[in-house]
Amino acid sequence: MPNLALVGTQWGDEGKGKIVDWLAERFDVIARYQGGNNAGHTVIYDGVKQVLHLVPSGILRPGKECIIGNGVVVDPEALFKEIDRLEEQGIATRGRLWVSDRAHLILPYHHGIELGSEQRRGEHAIGTTSRGIGPAYQDKMARSGIRAIDCVDRDVLARKVRANLGVVNDLLHHLYDRPPFDADEIIEQYTHWGERLAEYLADTSVRLHTAMGEGRNILFEGAQGTHLDVDHGTYPFVTSSSATAGGVSSGLGVGPNRVDGVLGVTKAYTTRVGSGPMPTQLDDEVGQQLRDVGQEYGATTGRPRRCGWFDGVAARYAVRVNGCDVFVVTKLDVLDSIDPLRICVAYEVDGVRCEEMPANITSATTITPIYEDCPGWEGSVIGARSPEEFPAEARAYLARIAEVSGCPIGIASNGADREAIVMMPDSPLDVLVP
Ligand code: IMP
Repeated sequence: MPNLALVGTQWGDEGKGKIVDWLAERFDVIARYQGGNNAGHTVIYDGVKQVLHLVPSGILRPGKECIIGNGVVVDPEALFKEIDRLEEQGIATRGRLWVSDRAHLILPYHHGIELGSEQRRGEHAIGTTSRGIGPAYQDKMARSGIRAIDCVDRDVLARKVRANLGVVNDLLHHLYDRPPFDADEIIEQYTHWGERLAEYLADTSVRLHTAMGEGRNILFEGAQGTHLDVDHGTYPFVTSSSATAGGVSSGLGVGPNRVDGVLGVTKAYTTRVGSGPMPTQLDDEVGQQLRDVGQEYGATTGRPRRCGWFDGVAARYAVRVNGCDVFVVTKLDVLDSIDPLRICVAYEVDGVRCEEMPANITSATTITPIYEDCPGWEGSVIGARSPEEFPAEARAYLARIAEVSGCPIGIASNGADREAIVMMPDSPLDVLVP
């Protein structure tokens, strides 16, 4: 039975929420392997917009099991806000949502450290989502993190919080000129979260292996995107986790040989929030049109997204580092009536033509995209239910994206609704999706 990894191939916000929701019907278990509530997965369900930050989007499909893996960092307050909202809407989470007992927690002081560190960076700030993600992963790697299992034992929790605050409060005071945190308050708060978390905690690696042993299919849900991956992204303007397909294995405790296929989600154009390079960014009226029509404002922070042409170099790179078997192209409808369309096929980096993403992308003096023009189309792709119903120019545009990226396209999404999905012919999707 196939297990599939779904990853973002750009800088996040590719529309993964909708695709996970669509795929969730065909899989039994949906498991998140990295990131935290910095993600914002938007799903339009019965005309109602649902934004999920931490809980896998599969929760919206009755009967599906959802897992938050050890590679995710969990802010318990954010998690229970989401759980409470889902339960209020009649969407059950008990007995079908599991949080890894090894997942690291985001603590209040992580927010303080993040604020201080972003402020100190000044004009070089990363433009984070301010959710404490980076400092939580920092603690994990520094071996001073507090894991979900720790907060179900008050003594363990108290010992670790006190030890950490001994250092953190000094750091906040001396380096960042920020107020200290009170250990007792945090211990109280997190003991409370521990009591609530207890019924959701599990060794999620065991649960996944049991599911696989029973022949159930797993969808591994990535958050953020390839170019925000801590290793493969536009470092240092990245998030602090492994958003690429390689993160599945360490972030969930499953062997890499259990990932049977990789599906890359890409927008028909490019967007980015926060700082860092984005070679195809448009600061003109086309960029504004993409933002307006595509409603390109952050699902988590509400920040306006930077918008630009499809970046074939970034896409090719994503295909390689993730091993993408098939692409899903989202928001094709946003390109309705833009003529001509442009696809970036290479960069000129400090005067030298570059077919691949350069490692020095954040320090190069000039990066000029090399474009190819494609004719736009008259009318709209909205409402089409098969590729034959697309204008010929839209089909040609998709074909060129596939060629430049080196990945076949399995689905083109042409609207926000669940039903706005067009299956493309001759793609490997049939083999990858049960
Ligand atoms: P952090 O993940 O909050 O540390 O932010 C690091 C960078 O990743 C910032 O540029 C954020 O805007 C970006 N980022 C984090 N999560 C997302 C996401 O889900 N979509 C898009 N950008 C994100």
